[in-house]
Amino acid sequence: MSAAQRDDAVPGTPDHDTDLHHLRADGVSLVVDLAGGTLPRVLHWGADLGDLDPDVLHDLRRVSRPMPIGFPVDGEVPVAVLPEQSAGFLGTPGLTGTRDGRDFSTAFVVREHTVARLDDGTQRLDVHAADADAGLGLDLVVELTAQGLLRQRATLTNTADDTYALDGLLLTLPVPATATELLDFSGRWARERSPQRTAFTHGTRLRDNRRGRTGYDTAFVLVAGTHGFGHRAGQVWGVHTAWSGNHRTLAERSHYHPGLLGGGELLTPGEVRLDAGGTYTSPWVYGSWGVGLDALAGRFHRWMRARPQHPRTPRPVTLNTWEAVYFQHDLGRLTELADAAAAIGAERYVLDDGWFGSRRDDTRGLGDWYVSADVWPDGLHPLVDHVTGLGLQFGLWVEPEMVNPDSDLARAHPDWMLQVPSRLPRPARHQQVLDLAHPEAYAYILERLDALLREYDIAYLKWDHNRDLVDAGHGRSGTAGVHGQTLAVYRLLDELRERHPGVEIESCSSGGGRVDLEILARTDRIWGSDCIDALERQQIQRWTNLLVPLELIGAHVGSGTAHSTGRRHALSFRAGTALFGHLGIEWDLREADDAQRAELAAWVSAYKDLRGLLHTGTTVHADGVDPSHQVHGVVAADGSDALFAVVATATSESLPTGRLTFPGLDPDATYHVRPQPPGDVVEGLGSHWLSLPWWTPDGARLTGRVLAEVGLQAPVLFPEHLVLVRATRVA
Ligand code: DGJ
Repeated sequence: MSAAQRDDAVPGTPDHDTDLHHLRADGVSLVVDLAGGTLPRVLHWGADLGDLDPDVLHDLRRVSRPMPIGFPVDGEVPVAVLPEQSAGFLGTPGLTGTRDGRDFSTAFVVREHTVARLDDGTQRLDVHAADADAGLGLDLVVELTAQGLLRQRATLTNTADDTYALDGLLLTLPVPATATELLDFSGRWARERSPQRTAFTHGTRLRDNRRGRTGYDTAFVLVAGTHGFGHRAGQVWGVHTAWSGNHRTLAERSHYHPGLLGGGELLTPGEVRLDAGGTYTSPWVYGSWGVGLDALAGRFHRWMRARPQHPRTPRPVTLNTWEAVYFQHDLGRLTELADAAAAIGAERYVLDDGWFGSRRDDTRGLGDWYVSADVWPDGLHPLVDHVTGLGLQFGLWVEPEMVNPDSDLARAHPDWMLQVPSRLPRPARHQQVLDLAHPEAYAYILERLDALLREYDIAYLKWDHNRDLVDAGHGRSGTAGVHGQTLAVYRLLDELRERHPGVEIESCSSGGGRVDLEILARTDRIWGSDCIDALERQQIQRWTNLLVPLELIGAHVGSGTAHSTGRRHALSFRAGTALFGHLGIEWDLREADDAQRAELAAWVSAYKDLRGLLHTGTTVHADGVDPSHQVHGVVAADGSDALFAVVATATSESLPTGRLTFPGLDPDATYHVRPQPPGDVVEGLGSHWLSLPWWTPDGARLTGRVLAEVGLQAPVLFPEHLVLVRATRVA
């Protein structure tokens, strides 16, 4: 089709049914318009529109066309999922790049497209477009999964002979003008995923991430919603840019478009140069719609749980040695810790940092992935044998992408580090980053990890990444290296998983600095945060769970005093917080007294009983009227069972708080509601006069509707305490 024909064929001209697609799944409709040969435009993404016959669809298109008045160009401006300036769109362009200054603007024409249904129920739209004048091909994939989750990605091909330098590729989704508020996230080390709400006003809210890893302060999920949206109410549209390197996520509103959400990789100039025939594939950009944030999160969770690689075995209670012993590795101490862990019911034991090379503190040794002969004269065998002999799985900490300049590796291969040619990046935690796009560096790391996995009975790797990438260039070429590094890490993980399919991997990055759906495509758990202070964790886990299902969020019970904040918390608060995750322990249990060990064992046993529910059910949160109290929980997929936590994060202005609501249950079913041991012990003012009539094993019988709409009086708690409530459907 020529450009002239294309001009004649802007949306609204006679079209074919095949130019308009209505995909529906799990309460979501996606209407995509391909009329006129321009790139696909989303006419509707949101609530299910029901079965629409072709005439209605056609008229939906007609009534969606704006009256072209005051636009930057004559006629209307179709805004495609990859918006183009040639269409008259003057917002952030979808594609930026040049061929030595030329071909800075594109006008893609769709050559063909297909819609298919995949085996897993996903409906997939494939669009092939080209701009012959600019010498570029574009392949777009738009998928609507069976869970109503939307995702799209693009592959750009240089079809000309000379090099095309790509500056950026951004994919967008439209939201209506009724979305007037935004929610996204900031954060820092030990305080990941702090929510921030702003008005969705004209202009661009651009969340750029240049950390070379996903980052603590990534937008994470950028949500636009109707006024006052919460967990249970208000329409919400959220996007997630699934990329573990530099990336951007944005929300944009202008007088010619009511709202776009989008994302893509953030490229450094010169980082991606496509020679003749070269291709670039963007990250997946996900979109989730729902009424309330719980519904938005539920789509992500259900989709992840349906993936073939999703861990389906019970998530083992994990003892991690870090806050228990830090770098103080010796066999006696570590076997005693394993004994204590086994005694309270742990099922996996992870030896953290400090077992290799000269790594006796964080200044040296990274890169020397050989078991330290000084500390471990017989290798790790005595410890691994002891741990596995106790019936626990053995896990090992590694940080494969990093190197200390004070290491044998750095001394032997100073040219293997990411840097600009003339200088090394400023160190962070005394370390530099290994250039995994360097074939020999990659081969060395692969060989070392593979050898460790072959030599020892290792069921689990905790894969850490403890610094941002600064000045991250490929030393030899002097070109920017984050893109290549990100792809190399994915390749490395893929290759190791293929060689060792039974080994699970945790994504850790100084806590929760690498949490995104692309790293989670090849890992089985994320470390939520280095902060295991339960009060902080209530927030961190709650918001991490907006994207990540509970079974993938590492949540540990620490010692009485939190190492990262100095706060002291009761064991019930620490354990009742870690319960809503993949539970672990990070505490020198050798120092715990008998009563503490017995109490911890009771929580571990409760976790084992409840993890089937917690790791398959739907997470719910009450929209609280009292900001000092949170009610969150998990409801079984069939509505038959639920566990809730009532959490006092602070003192309340009211005493007692008033009735608290418990959402998400079957409104018409009756539930037996009662305290759930061991979270039935009330530590608070209420415990002195406890006369809460229903706070007994017999509890109360209420319908799901009463629980959601009226609620019930919970015990008066001391701040930074919680209790558990169970609701089981009665026949
Ligand atoms: C940072 C991680 O988040 C911690 O859990 C621990 O593994 C340390 N690194 C070890 O250096």
